[in-house]
Amino acid sequence: MGIKKTIIRKIEKINHKFSKKLIIKNKRIIITGSNSGIGLELTKKIISTNSVISTVNKKKNEVDKIKNENLKILEEDFQNENLTENFCYEIEKFKPNIIINCAAIFGPEKQSLENLHISEFKKILNINFFSPLKLVQLSLNGNQLEQIVNISSEMGSITLNNMGGYYYYRLSKTLLNSFSKNLSNDIKSKNINIFCVHPGSVKTKMNSAGVISADQSAQKIINIINENDRNLSGKFIDINKKILEW
Ligand SMILES: NC(=O)c1ccc[n+]([C@@H]2O[C@H](COP(=O)([O-])OP(=O)(O)OC[C@H]3O[C@@H](n4cnc5c(N)ncnc54)[C@H](OP(=O)(O)O)[C@@H]3O)[C@@H](O)[C@H]2O)c1
Repeated sequence: MGIKKTIIRKIEKINHKFSKKLIIKNKRIIITGSNSGIGLELTKKIISTNSVISTVNKKKNEVDKIKNENLKILEEDFQNENLTENFCYEIEKFKPNIIINCAAIFGPEKQSLENLHISEFKKILNINFFSPLKLVQLSLNGNQLEQIVNISSEMGSITLNNMGGYYYYRLSKTLLNSFSKNLSNDIKSKNINIFCVHPGSVKTKMNSAGVISADQSAQKIINIINENDRNLSGKFIDINKKILEW
């Protein structure tokens, strides 16, 4: 690791030690992508004070270790075009107050235009865009939603993109951003807060070179959710609440 990254990592660790650690209480919360990385840390942090549905792909070994009566684990492969009937039923029945769309895939290493295959792209869009969208649809049916938190990425920003490449991942996150902005207008009158968050450069399965830990990122996301700042609705932010350009 470069010296600059090491210094940033150390500073972030110290900041984390002394930073505020807010908690969320008495909410029904759905977190996707809960068996690893940010989704797993979010689940661990909120489980004792909330009722939680954690969704996982095929593996649930890590989230299974949490063992808490507040936790229900649902297995669903978001790569499929349609969510299963049972999964939809469970989500609607749960009537969530908060949904955190965290599950995503980066896709293959080679993502230049020459390597782009529509069939592969569709699978990635199912995971990174269509499944989050469907989850929001189902959650809205419960009429109890207060916040929709879409974990996005700076890589989905059109304005900040001066590098090119990474078509699958970038475009899927751009769609998620656009969906979030559009929906924010439609649900204004329902008092539902919706925003996209770039979680930082986080050391996880997806990003082995990440600078901060999933624990650090998850705590900051929880702080933001705890505040439920209506001024953030329809916005794209980082974990320090800095507004990012779409
Ligand atoms: N890490 C970073 O630096 C970074 C930066 C910007 C944005 N993000 C975003 O942060 C979020 C969390 O990522 P992470 O860093 O925590 O990575 P991660 O550990 O790889 O988490 C992604 C999760 O998504 C799940 N997932 C993938 N394919 C799925 C499928 N077909 N069906 C259901 N679930 C599926 C994975 O489960 P399986 O592994 O079991 O399939 C995994 O638990 C993502 O939205 C990512 O785009 C991360």
